Amino acid sequence: MCGIIGILGKAPVAQRVLESLKRLEYRGYDSAGIASLEPNGALERRRASGKIINLEAVLASAPLQGHTGIGHTRWATHGAPTESNAHPHATEKVALVHNGIIENFRPLRARLMAEGHRFTSQTDTEVIAHLITSHILAGMDPIAASEAAIGELEGAFALACIFADAPDLMFGARRGSPLVIGIGDGEMFLGSDAIAVAPFTQTIIYLEEGDSAALTRAGARIKDDKGQPVTRPRAQVMGAAAAEKGNHRHFMQKEVYEQPETLARTVGRYVDGFSETVSIPDLGALDLAAIDQIFLVACGTASYAGRVAEYWLESLAKIPVECDIASEFRYRSPVLGPKSAAMFISQSGETADTLAALRYAKQAGLPTLSVLNVPQSTMWRETDCVLPTLAGPEIGVASTKAFTAQLTALAAFTIALAKARGTIDADAEHRLARALIEMPRLVAQALQCEPMAQQLGAEIAKSVGCLFLGRGVYFPLALEGALKLKEISYLHAEGYAAGELKHGPIALVDENMPVIVLAPKDPLFEKTMSNVEEVHARGGKIILISDPPGHGASEHLNVRRLIIPSCDGIVSPIVAAIPIQLIAYHTALSRGTDVDQPRNLAKSVTVE
Ligand code: AGP
Repeated sequence: MCGIIGILGKAPVAQRVLESLKRLEYRGYDSAGIASLEPNGALERRRASGKIINLEAVLASAPLQGHTGIGHTRWATHGAPTESNAHPHATEKVALVHNGIIENFRPLRARLMAEGHRFTSQTDTEVIAHLITSHILAGMDPIAASEAAIGELEGAFALACIFADAPDLMFGARRGSPLVIGIGDGEMFLGSDAIAVAPFTQTIIYLEEGDSAALTRAGARIKDDKGQPVTRPRAQVMGAAAAEKGNHRHFMQKEVYEQPETLARTVGRYVDGFSETVSIPDLGALDLAAIDQIFLVACGTASYAGRVAEYWLESLAKIPVECDIASEFRYRSPVLGPKSAAMFISQSGETADTLAALRYAKQAGLPTLSVLNVPQSTMWRETDCVLPTLAGPEIGVASTKAFTAQLTALAAFTIALAKARGTIDADAEHRLARALIEMPRLVAQALQCEPMAQQLGAEIAKSVGCLFLGRGVYFPLALEGALKLKEISYLHAEGYAAGELKHGPIALVDENMPVIVLAPKDPLFEKTMSNVEEVHARGGKIILISDPPGHGASEHLNVRRLIIPSCDGIVSPIVAAIPIQLIAYHTALSRGTDVDQPRNLAKSVTVE
């Protein structure tokens, strides 16, 4: 969602703040702004609603010269995405940017207004600027004033503040939203993630929950949640190139094409190619054999990865599984058994609902495992056992390479659990391990369907909607196909279990309705084909995604065909994810939508 950058620089910082904000665009936003401490000692702001290009235009006509500056991309929560609600918010004494939500802003605002503070926005954030100012006016120095102010806040925040009378100071604090410090050569940075500061430095410090930090150009003084000075370890971040599109037109396309590599990396984490065995490193105290039920909890695409895994876990590891959407989990009073474990799936590791569900499970005493892509994210720190997906930074809002990496980690987990529970023997483990090792090559082959996906995308783009059908593991994949298409092409789409078709959705089928059927040859293939016949009989435009045996067995049908390679059932949904990603991408291109930053969406959803 919102993005933060702050720079204590050696030269004017506005252009670099802008550069960083462009890198943060992937998080989703609807206004942006920048503040700097100008050479005349005044805090000045430039803000604009809409895209960063609008802010760039404002800055071009009224440049900023300060060496100390902060910037923000805002995804509106309290107050419309207008210029006056855009961050930074400021008084004469302080300018600040904020990610998160201040829950007690109303009483604080009323109190400050009664004291004579004038508010110019409808945001919860502005209250922080006035609170700090009131403490400064009462005689506190900027650091003490900021510390006192955050002590009065309820809710979640990551903050970066600069001060009128302190050109060599930037104050940061995190509670509930991540914040990193970047360490440069005589310069210091604050960012909402490593990508924000990656162009300027590779050396960062991840602040821990409850930390605050006073930065000067010489370094950072960090305090923990009890106000005690602490030292946090330094980390090296990936090169700035991770957030570049390279030769690709969009991040999404780049990320789709990275999959053979990201999947090979993720397989390498869990599978020993020499012994053809599968294991989960760093399980800690968790005894897999002692678990007798698993809750799989996530949002959006990550939840569909969980629903695919539900089929694997029940059939291979013979363990009862409950899949939950994170926003429902803790409100439905789930019955958690003494031997239940809870597993969370999240690319960002920051999704508010998934994080809240993780905390709920921990509080209930369940062992927690999390499949996560962003190292050191909040969930990474709070879960008992992390199963990393080594997909690298995912910038496109539509999840692609993170989804297939999640499936890979979940497949490995299934095999390891089945082994621990004695439901598969060594031969089966070797076969499944080989299937995983082979899978990245098959994904590379599946990418060759792009010309066909492009043709189909152009046709689907002209339709009024689209249906996705599948059985077994291809049912959640059908849901994912529909979500992908909806979110980036804005075309209405639904995913259904193929057997559900005649219980309602078949009423939608006519000669204008594309029906995408995911049906590689498996034991359910014939049943899915019966459903295909039903669509065929009603003139629906069928697009069959299948492997060569599946296409061979359906030769008599007049359907459009998209061919993926044959593979073992454990990896088949991973390979079959490629065409649905490419179809969504090309449909969106044909419709001219904003592929990487679709309207209204944020990359990491840090509010409930
Ligand atoms: C995927 O394309 C979506 N943009 C979205 O559904 C996403 O998967 C969901 O918000 C969960 O995010 P997370 O994996 O970062 O928790």
